[in-house]
Amino acid sequence: MRGVEQIPWLYDGLCRVLEWTGLERWRAWLVKGARGRTLEVGSGTGRNLARYDHALPLLVAVEPAADALEASKGRRGGALLVRASAEALPFREGAFDTVVSSLVFCSVPRPEVGLAEVRRVLAPGGVLRMLEHVRSEGRLGGAFADLIQPVWTKVAGGCHPNRRTEATVEAAGFELSERRANGSMRRFVATPR
Ligand SMILES: C[S@@+](CC[C@H](N)C(=O)[O-])C[C@H]1O[C@@H](n2cnc3c(N)ncnc32)[C@H](O)[C@@H]1O
Repeated sequence: MRGVEQIPWLYDGLCRVLEWTGLERWRAWLVKGARGRTLEVGSGTGRNLARYDHALPLLVAVEPAADALEASKGRRGGALLVRASAEALPFREGAFDTVVSSLVFCSVPRPEVGLAEVRRVLAPGGVLRMLEHVRSEGRLGGAFADLIQPVWTKVAGGCHPNRRTEATVEAAGFELSERRANGSMRRFVATPR
C-alpha cells in the first residue's frame, strides 16, 4: 500500500515540520544512546542516520520500502542499507548491541513478530531504543484514534494511530526504562528480561 510513508519527498517535508516543532530533540536522544553494533529498523528515508556517533563500529539500516531506502543513500557514508522487514531480519542471533526504532512499530504489520526478531538479534546486554506514537490514554482521544484508524492507515501507508506499542513491547519480553511521554508520543529504552 503506497501512502505518505512511501513517498519520500512528502514524508521528508512532513518530518521537517515535526522536527522543527520538537521531534528533533527526541530523535537526538534516541540515537545519542546507541552503543556498539547498531541496527536501525524501519529507517525510512534515513532521517536519523547522520545523527549517529561516527565512532560506532557498525551501523546497519533496514527498511522494506525501496523508494525510502533509495532516498536514504548518501545520508550517512559507511552505513549499510538493507532492504528487509523487521519481521524477518536477515541477521544472526546476537548480532547487535543496540537496536533503534523511530515511528516504526505503528506500521509493522505484525509488531509482535518484529519485536521477537529484534530480541533475537540483540546480544546479551543489548538494548532497544524506541521513539513511537501510541494510542491516546484519554477515553476520547483513544476512541478518536480507533475511529480514524482505517482511513489514517490507508493515507499514511500502513501507520496505525491506535497501537498500544508499550504493552506490546513488554509482552515481547522487554522491560521499559527512561520512559518519557508527550501527548501520544513516547520514548523509552527496552531491555530484554
Ligand atoms: C513513519 S515511517 C518512519 C521512518 C523513520 N524511522 C523515521 O523516523 O523517519 C515508518 C517506516 O516503517 C517502515 N515499515 C513498515 N513496515 C515495516 C516492516 N515490516 N519492517 C520494517 N519497517 C517497516 C515504513 O516503510 C516506513 O519507512
